[in-house]
Amino acid sequence: MSVKKIVVLPGDHIGPEIVSSAVEVLKTVEKKCSDLKFEFEEHKIGGASIDAYGTPLTDETIKACLEADGIILGAVGGPEWTNPNCRPEQGLLKLRKSLGVWANLRPCTFPSKSLLKYSPLKSEIAEGVDFCVVRELTGGCYFGERTEDNGSGHAMDTWPYSVEEVTRIARLAAWLAQTYNPPAPVTLLDKANVLATSRLWRKTVAKVFKEEFPHLTLKNQLIDSAAMLMVKSPRTLNGVVLTDNLFGDIISDESSVIPGSLGLLPSASLSGIYGQTENLNCLVEPIHGSAPDIAGQGIVNPVGTILSGALLLRYALNAHKEAAAIEAAVEKVLDDTSIGGRGLYTRDLGGDAKTVGITKAVVEELEKIL
Ligand code: NAD
Ligand code: IPM
Ligand code: MN
Repeated sequence: MSVKKIVVLPGDHIGPEIVSSAVEVLKTVEKKCSDLKFEFEEHKIGGASIDAYGTPLTDETIKACLEADGIILGAVGGPEWTNPNCRPEQGLLKLRKSLGVWANLRPCTFPSKSLLKYSPLKSEIAEGVDFCVVRELTGGCYFGERTEDNGSGHAMDTWPYSVEEVTRIARLAAWLAQTYNPPAPVTLLDKANVLATSRLWRKTVAKVFKEEFPHLTLKNQLIDSAAMLMVKSPRTLNGVVLTDNLFGDIISDESSVIPGSLGLLPSASLSGIYGQTENLNCLVEPIHGSAPDIAGQGIVNPVGTILSGALLLRYALNAHKEAAAIEAAVEKVLDDTSIGGRGLYTRDLGGDAKTVGITKAVVEELEKIL
């Protein structure tokens, strides 16, 4: 049995609180499964790294991540780091680029049916929502040339994309669509009525689907009206939602409140197609940020990070049964309908459970399942 090295990057503000929940859950998996052994190695990133080393990401941390079997990150950023040339977020972007994790999967489903009544949307609108945002992660305006204002009164960001970058993410979205039974439709979100890059996306994605995946359904939706549909009739987006880096960032935060809270949704960033790419890099993190407004009070919702741990098991370590067990344990803890369900919720969902209480309950359920 080989030991799997997991690099842990807590980051800033609530980062350490949520990451320790996910690590505790992974340690429970390790305890119950004789064929899984983890070695956790913690490193700094973001503001914590700026404070310690003067840079948001050191070469040592990059090296450790490149050598790891999987990486779990909390969140970076906060109002105290204001230097535009040395921001915590730059550490995260550099990490994604260094690992080559160009595909970011952000599934939006209900971790438990009980959450339906906590959704800000009417139950009949939110019920049955099940899509996965596939966000391109290492291109677009996040990595284009940038000119800071620096007192000149002008600033500029550029938004480049190449056919190669769009082709590989289109193939990944198609691959993901094929894992559904029956295969899921893919909806491409763009701004092709204005942006040249969006027109490149539309043309390239259409070609990939026509030539390589003719049996799959490809739909196009402009990003602005997609934002409206996500609230009015989100099931119309069910399946795979393919989009660029910035649009994916925005639309995934919007999607998170369908099941009730930004604190619920996990993500996995991959350097290729799972099961096909050799030496796949996998970085998991919740989709939310460092939430400085609630840090240190013990009230953070750890579910998005715990479920990110499940994605790490699935995509980085091929541990499908254990990943599903974590998801089932979370479902049980959030379930207030069935006998034996707990219905524990943190404050973001209107409850009074604490981060450690939710984590302990997930661990207990997981021990029963595994
Ligand atoms: P945020 O996601 O940190 O918080 C938005 C709101 O959601 C806040 O009210 C917060 O309290 C709440 N929230 C977020 N996660 C929660 C959780 N797990 N449980 C309960 N409530 C939760 O977004 P923001 O306030 O716009 O950004 C704060 C900082 O986080 C910024 O510096 C930003 O750059 C950074 N950020 C980092 C990441 C990341 O590291 N991946 C992602 C997004 C934002
Ligand atoms: C996210 C975050 C990051 C992003 C920031 C912190 C750079 O918002 O992971 O969603 O925009 O990708
Ligand atoms: Mn974001």
